[in-house]
This record gives sequence, C-alpha cells and structure tokens, in this order.
Amino acid sequence: MNLLPSLKTPMTDSAAAAASLTPCMETGLPTDMELVMRVMPMPKDANGNGDIFGGWIMAQVDLAGCVLPGRISRGRVTTVAVNQFIFKNAVSVGDLLSFYARVEKIGNTSITVHVEVWAQRNPADLQTVKVTEANVTYVAIDERGRPRPVRLTA
Ligand SMILES: CC(C)(COP(=O)(O)OP(=O)(O)OC[C@H]1O[C@@H](n2cnc3c(N)ncnc32)[C@H](O)[C@@H]1OP(=O)(O)O)[C@@H](O)C(=O)NCCC(=O)NCCS
Repeated sequence: MNLLPSLKTPMTDSAAAAASLTPCMETGLPTDMELVMRVMPMPKDANGNGDIFGGWIMAQVDLAGCVLPGRISRGRVTTVAVNQFIFKNAVSVGDLLSFYARVEKIGNTSITVHVEVWAQRNPADLQTVKVTEANVTYVAIDERGRPRPVRLTA
C-alpha cells in the first residue's frame, strides 16, 4: 500500500515560503560547502583576554580539513602545507563553530581544500560570523608514510 499520497497535505502560503528558505537564508551558514565538523571552544582554549587561541583554531581547521581528502583518497593523509590562513574575527568561549570545506584541487598524491569557520553566537539574537578561512594541502600516504596516488572514487 502506498501511503505517500495521504502524507501530502496542501501547504499554506506561509509554510511554502518557509520551506523555500535555503539554510543560508535561515542561518547565514554556507550552502555551497560541506559541513565537516562542529565544535564549541571552552575556557581552557582561551588566552588571557578571553579570546580563543589562534593555534587552537588552526588545529581544528587541520582536523576538519582532512575529512574530505581522507574520504576521497580512501585512507591516511598528512598535512603538507598551509597555503593561506586568515583570522577575520575573534572567537569567544561558547561560540558554536561550524567548519565547512570544499575541494580546490586534486593532484597526483595531494588534495587541497578550502576551509571556512563560521561562529554562531548569542542564541537570543543569533549572529553568524565567518571567523577564519584557510587553504590546506594534504598528501595521501601509505603505511610507511610515503606519498601514494589519490584513488578517485566513482
Ligand atoms: C607530506 C610528505 C609525505 C610528502 O613527501 P614528499 O616526498 O615531500 O612528496 P612529494 O615531493 O612527492 O610531494 C607530494 C605532493 O605534495 C605536494 N606538495 C609538496 N610540498 C608542497 C607545498 N609546499 N605546497 C603544496 N603542495 C606541496 C606535491 O606537489 C605533491 O603533490 P602531487 O603529487 O599531487 O603533485 C612528507 O613531506 C612528510 O611526511 N611531511 C611531514 C608531514 C607531517 O608530519 N605533517 C603534520 C604536520 S607537522
């Protein structure tokens, strides 16, 4: 028995309008990149001013950035280069950080990704701010840590 038709109820104009909203319009977060990681920094990640250490953010970007290269190369990858790192806005304790990634280039053994970090803060009056962006290159490696060709999946 096909139950689907019974689940189809006519949408009101306002419901249709709400359904047509893209995630970007609702949240301000990117829709053209893949969400690869979310994390919330804690007081231990902050400096004396209460802002989050740049080094902590760099480590998170490195972790987030390797998700797509690991998936594409179906195995171990290592970071070979950080080609660009921009800290656009300060990050605070309690910000919800979303890491979005997009593959920029696939070489013989390397994969370069663009990573953007977006902070969401102040739930009572939600603000979404791009705080960091970076380009990071990873190399697919074998069990001995030697470069291996990237195997593209179908
Ligand atoms: C990454 C590593 C395995 C590469 O070994 P290698 O013998 O230097 O390999 P190659 O020179 O053949 O370069 C491999 C790929 O990296 C790319 N690459 C090397 N240096 C690069 C750089 N500075 N920027 C961008 N890409 C670079 C090469 O273009 C090549 O890509 P391709 O095969 O797609 O054309 C080796 O350098 C290494 O183990 N480094 C330490 C990695 C590490 O510990 N990272 C954690 C942070 S400390």
